[in-house]
Formats: sequence, structure tokens, C-alpha cells
Amino acid sequence: MIKADLTGALSFAGDFAPVLDEAKQTLARLLAGSAGVDGTGWLKLPEQMSAVVPAVMSAAQRICADSQVLVVIGIGGSYLGARAAIDFIQSVHYNALKKNTPDVYFVGNNLSGEHLEQVIALIGNRDFSVNYISKSGSTLEPASAFRVFKKRLTDKYGSKGAASRIYVTTDAEKGKLRALTDREGYTSFVIPDDVGGRYSVLTPVGLLPAAVADIDIAAMLDGARDIMENGQDEAARYAALRQALYRAGRKIELLVGFEPSLVSTGEWWKQLFGESEGKNGLGIFPASAQFTTDLHSLGQYIQDGERTLFETFVSAEVPRGTITVIADEALEDGLAPLAGESFSKLNDAARQGTKQAHIDGGVPVIELRLPSYTAYDFGMLVQFFELSCGVSALMTGVNPFDQPGVEAYKKNLYAILGLQK
Ligand code: PA5
Repeated sequence: MIKADLTGALSFAGDFAPVLDEAKQTLARLLAGSAGVDGTGWLKLPEQMSAVVPAVMSAAQRICADSQVLVVIGIGGSYLGARAAIDFIQSVHYNALKKNTPDVYFVGNNLSGEHLEQVIALIGNRDFSVNYISKSGSTLEPASAFRVFKKRLTDKYGSKGAASRIYVTTDAEKGKLRALTDREGYTSFVIPDDVGGRYSVLTPVGLLPAAVADIDIAAMLDGARDIMENGQDEAARYAALRQALYRAGRKIELLVGFEPSLVSTGEWWKQLFGESEGKNGLGIFPASAQFTTDLHSLGQYIQDGERTLFETFVSAEVPRGTITVIADEALEDGLAPLAGESFSKLNDAARQGTKQAHIDGGVPVIELRLPSYTAYDFGMLVQFFELSCGVSALMTGVNPFDQPGVEAYKKNLYAILGLQK
């Protein structure tokens, strides 16, 4: 289970007890469906999605059998979770590893022509399939990238062969992709109507790319279920402390991992909290960092800059990697006493030392500790953050499940390009 250690932040948070009470009541309303908001279907995903696992696995097996590459086309909630899962559970170097499963490339998450060309060059002559993920079916970035890869598939395999290699994940009825999917006979998966993009990682949106990357998706769902059964209080405590800190003037939250494998989890987390909370002139600004790397860039500001931020550290009891420091007397750099120590011990020392330094410097630090970095842990972390985010956003007084602000740039972009919105 995830453990939230609040001791490094409580003294910055004013009177915490009433805020915790409020968080518990808000959670109860969210769970009971009486929070006055739509889009809470993600609460049931850990239960419901078990039924979809066999179909997802069979699609993943087909992709693994006939493709050396899976191209995942999607943006925002339609890609961030899958990328986070692969980096967190497998490796940030997943594509470069020798393995029996396809490389997974993410495209359609920007409008860079160069990025598309680079991915096309990386695929080369290899066999590939496409997973086009878009709830609306009309988002410019993935829709324009899909055209490129649909044509490449058709050129390589003919239209029937191409259709058999296109896997669509979209809305059941409403999205603009549904009609095309049915007409062309693409294998397809449903994003439930009451699940918004940033809450959809535990639907086929995240499950199919994860399964292709040899991730145990049933374990991911088990971890998420564990949170629904045993982790609600911990999620409410985290949400409450975020709010207490926000009300005490802390406007920025920095999510910190001590492993490169957590960087893309930070990207997913930023979207989850940013799109859920940042509304009506309110909300904590979500930022992320990787330590110790960023202690050599952002570290000065965190230690000594304006006192408007707080940090949330994410780490695990079971460390990643077993490599140790080598004894080398020729190197007169003062590190000789570390010979034989594991890098994970150094990393843990950095975590403890940084935490204390930042608290001493006036930065509240919340610590979230996972048992390990497995698929089960990832599922727990996802459901934990989603639950906390829903509660925290409701306590901010905004709707956690809409994103009206995203439309503003789209409106201008479409107008500049002469497109109907
Ligand atoms: O969380 C959200 O709803 C958004 O980030 C969407 O996921 C993103 O805009 C992509 O939308 P769509 O899946 O409709 O292409």
C-alpha cells in the first residue's frame, strides 16, 4: 500500500484537522455520486476493466506476432498514461532494449513534422501496427498524424492489410472516429463515456500499449483496486494536505522522483492535476522534477527562492538497481569510503538529505512511499492520484472533470488554419 508521510509538511499547513475532515466528507460525496459533477466513471475502472483484459491481451498478442513496432497516436490523456506506465514499469530505455515485444513509439502528441519524420525513419522497413487513441476523434495533433501512418500502412500492406493493423481506442458512440472504425472494420476499444482523457489510463487507452510492452495489466488493475479498498484514507490525507498548504499560500507543487523512470509519471501527473484543478483563477500549479539531476538546476531556487512551493516526493521501499560504487584508489576525489556501497543507498541518502534541507529552507515536503516499482504499484499510484485529485479539485471549488480552458488555443488554431471547430 502507498504510505503518505505528512510530517515534513504539517507544520506549514495551519490547522490541519478541519481540512482533513473536509477532505473526508468530499471523498464520501465523490464516492456516493453526490458531488454534483459528471465524469466519475474512473472510480469503477479497477473493477470494470478486468472484463476487458482478455480482449486487450488478444489484440496485444496479435500486434506482438505481426509487428516489430507499435505506433501509438494520441495526445494528453490519450498517451501520457501509457508512456508513464512503460517507463515506470519497464524502462525509459524500453525501445533500445533487446526484447521479444515491439518497440512503442508515441506520435500525434505535438505538431512537429521533424518528430514524425524521425519516428518514420526509426521504423524503417520494420513491420508495424497503429493504435490510434482519441476520445473525440477530432483532435488536430493525433488526427493529422493518423493520416500519415494510415497512408504508410496502406502503401505497405494494401487497404485490407492496413485495416487489420489499425487499432482504435475511442468513445463508444459519440466520437468522430467511431463511424470510420465501424466502416473500415478496425479492431476497436471503448473509452467509457463517463471517463475523461486524463482519468483513462486504466482503460484500453493505457492498457493496450502497456500490454504490448509486456506489462502485467491485470496486476495494474489489482493495484488500483487495492487503493479503492484500502487506500482511500491515505488519498484523502494527501488531498487535504495539498489544500491546507494551498490555503496557506503554497501555489506550486513540485512532484519529485529520484529515478529517471518516474519522469513521464510526472508528465502524466501534471496533466491530471493541472487540467483538473486549474480553473476560474484557482488551483495549485503542478510542476515536476527529477532528483538529484534537477538539484543541479532547480535546486538553488527550491532551497532559496520565493517560498510559494511545496514538494511531493515519490519513491519506493524496494530500490531500482543493484550496482555498487567501485573502489579506485587512483581517483583522489574523496569518494573512497563509498567503495562497495550501492547506488540505491546513495540515492536514498540524497532523498533524506534533500528532504531535510528543503524543510529547513522553508519548503514543505510530503513523501509518498510505494512498496516497489511494479505494475501493481503503478496501478496503485494512478488510482491514488486520481482519487486525491478529484477530492482536492472539488475542495478548490472547481469541476475536476471538465477542461474548458483547453478549447481557447484550439479555437484560435482552427481559425488560423481555416478549419471549422
Ligand atoms: O484529459 C483530457 O480530456 C484531454 O487531455 C484529452 O485527453 C486530450 O485533449 C485528447 O483528446 P482526445 O482523446 O479527444 O483526442
